[in-house]
Amino acid sequence: MSDAVLQVRELVKHYPVRRGLLRRSVAAVKAVDGVSLTLERGRTLGLVGESGSGKSTLARVLVGIETPTSGQVLVDGEDVSTLSRAGRKQLRRDVQMVFQDPYTSLNPRMSVGEIVGEPFAIHGIDPAGGRRAAVGELLELVGLDPDHTSRYPHQFSGGQRQRIGIARALALRPKVLVCDEPVSALDVSVQGQVINLLEDLQEELGLSYLFVAHDLGVVRHIAHDVAVMYLGRIVEQGPEQPVYDTARHPYTQALLSAVPVPDPAVRATAGAAAQPGGLVLEGDPPSPVDPPSGCPFHTRCWLAPTLPEARSDAPGSRPVPTVCATETPALVPHGDAATHVAACHFARELAAPGVES
Ligand SMILES: Nc1ncnc2c1ncn2[C@@H]1O[C@H](COP(=O)(O)OP(=O)(O)OP(=O)(O)O)[C@@H](O)[C@H]1O
Ligand code: SF4
Ligand SMILES: [Mg+2]
Repeated sequence: MSDAVLQVRELVKHYPVRRGLLRRSVAAVKAVDGVSLTLERGRTLGLVGESGSGKSTLARVLVGIETPTSGQVLVDGEDVSTLSRAGRKQLRRDVQMVFQDPYTSLNPRMSVGEIVGEPFAIHGIDPAGGRRAAVGELLELVGLDPDHTSRYPHQFSGGQRQRIGIARALALRPKVLVCDEPVSALDVSVQGQVINLLEDLQEELGLSYLFVAHDLGVVRHIAHDVAVMYLGRIVEQGPEQPVYDTARHPYTQALLSAVPVPDPAVRATAGAAAQPGGLVLEGDPPSPVDPPSGCPFHTRCWLAPTLPEARSDAPGSRPVPTVCATETPALVPHGDAATHVAACHFARELAAPGVES
């Protein structure tokens, strides 16, 4: 049975593009353009996609740093926007953020004790046993010395700083951590330690994670479910195993094919989608100010021009099936699992070598 701790329904976040002396809004950056997601309690949902696809914007809306243009965010079934200010504040405590860069996200002028204890001060909370003891416990929880509260961020390594960021995020005993590329700024040797810490904390505290990352290998390791984002929309989503092993969207397949699989034995069983260099993503993503008509991926899709339906008179410069250029595909089940969904008109016909169809 579904036990959703966090739900997102048709979420939209547009940023106005302002021009001229009067700073009139002349267009909108469609950073998030109709996203629906469910994070199950105690699980990790990995969110992947190229730079600029809207991952951080979605993350910021979920933790309340940004207000959505439209759509709903539900925490434990309660719509955040319909609550009173006090109710919203309470609910917001349940969803906390771990930021990408532990070098810039910690105030260099604050001691570690002040940083980790800041959420208590902001929310006017006095934990049982006092703030000092609570901060010590939090530092211990993330594997740091509880006696180091008077030290400053520059006295810690990158990995230790990210542990401080995690301790701060845990201060208010949240249910959900939104981790926006939490290990990308760290040395590879340290990344594994922080990932292991997050996994241990999940088990110990029953936490749920939305885990944003560029690195599909890291996501495969930590995530139970995966969502793939392109130009502000989810194009494929489902349990980790079917999404990685039988990707149904040409964009997901291209992302996967760029992931190096060092072990030939693994490569042999993983199919073409996991072979480095198998499929190439042409050019950069289009501007989210003016996304392509129809399927937003049609200007870069490697599959569309190869289909028998491809027409050279289709709108745009490359031959693609008319339906790709004119009709936005819905996110619907295409795999064996009903929860594995993809937004491609030709998902069922995908016949990349080694990828089951
Ligand atoms: N405050 C803002 N004002 C205007 N545009 C913004 C703002 N924040 C983000 N954008 C734009 O929204 C789009 C999505 O950005 P976002 O940072 O969410 O992407 P991302 O997937 O997190 O990328 P990356 O992988 O590089 O972190 C981009 O085109 C970005 O330029
Ligand atoms: S709908 Fe068409 S353009 Fe979009 S991903 Fe599928 S084949 Fe490619
Ligand atoms: Mg980002």
